[in-house]
Amino acid sequence: MYKIAVIPGDGTGPEVVAEGLKVLEAAAEYANFEYETVTYDFGGERYLATGETLPDSALEELRDFDAIYLGAIGHPDVRPGILEHGILLKIRFGLDQYINLRPVKLYPGVDCPLKDKGPQDIDLVVVRENTEGLYVGCGGFVRKGTPHEIAIQESINTRMGVERCIRFAFEYCRRRNGKKKVTLCGKTNVLTYAHDLWERVFNEVASEYPDITTDYAHVDAICMWFVKNPEWFDVVVTDNMFGDIITDLGAIIQGGMGIAAGANINPSGTSMFEPIGGSAPKYTGKNVINPLAAICALQMMLEILGEEKASKKVEEAVVLALTSGKIKSLSAGKMGLSTSEVGDLVAGFVKKC
Ligand code: IPM
Ligand code: MN
Repeated sequence: MYKIAVIPGDGTGPEVVAEGLKVLEAAAEYANFEYETVTYDFGGERYLATGETLPDSALEELRDFDAIYLGAIGHPDVRPGILEHGILLKIRFGLDQYINLRPVKLYPGVDCPLKDKGPQDIDLVVVRENTEGLYVGCGGFVRKGTPHEIAIQESINTRMGVERCIRFAFEYCRRRNGKKKVTLCGKTNVLTYAHDLWERVFNEVASEYPDITTDYAHVDAICMWFVKNPEWFDVVVTDNMFGDIITDLGAIIQGGMGIAAGANINPSGTSMFEPIGGSAPKYTGKNVINPLAAICALQMMLEILGEEKASKKVEEAVVLALTSGKIKSLSAGKMGLSTSEVGDLVAGFVKKC
């Protein structure tokens, strides 16, 4: 019996999570496993009403779940940073979800903005370090608000943190059994301390994996290659900030935020699964947002929980939905179907086959 914490969150989060849960129900029936969910109301509304983001006691409770399923965090009436730090990053850091795994896979039936590229060219995964770097929040102001103000924000890179991330990337690459290639993405020509450490650790770990080829790309260049030659990549490992940036680029080449999912993984603890797009306030409550990213996040959850059969079935159902001709576009409001109809379609395919 899996215990799953559900945090629908803000904006369109609850709408897409509802569709993911529909698919979970179908998948559980198909693969014969049981689960229970506990829903938490953390998000902008609760913060505005109570001043509370995510209490420490809730973080402790979340540790006891097998997985966390998150919709979206971000509210137009709350100053940027409060909910992101208070909820999302608090969970990632607090539960030591040190990997942010973000597949960039172009499914058949999906429009790709890249000329002459198809599903055979776009199938890579970004392994983003998820607990260090610029996200640590290490820094501060001096003489704030004066003409002589100083603002410092430091990138924290520990040997342990860098190594466990890189090791995960190599292990994942081996298991994935694709092109068997890990690319380190950094900026060694400028970040001559932080990324010197990354490069040294990368080379050391790589020597333990003779079956895997390695490559290096500067972050600016990888932005170019993701567009020009996405087929070069298999597994890309990078730090927190660069991972954040290149996975938005990754999302758009796989068809957009409507389909991009990610997993915040603690390999020996509780992991959290989320669509990587935001709370999309302008589409909230309209039943027009695309739930496929949330459904793909759910598929990743099944995979990490070890429900391989269910996970494969959900992915198959997503592909059947995408190639059914019924979904006109992945963009909110242009799908030709409502949010719940897309959920029904995918859940239907899980049940049918
Ligand atoms: C993401 C988001 C978050 C991040 C924000 C909301 C803090 O952009 O998951 O990519 O920067 O990690
Ligand atoms: Mn991001």
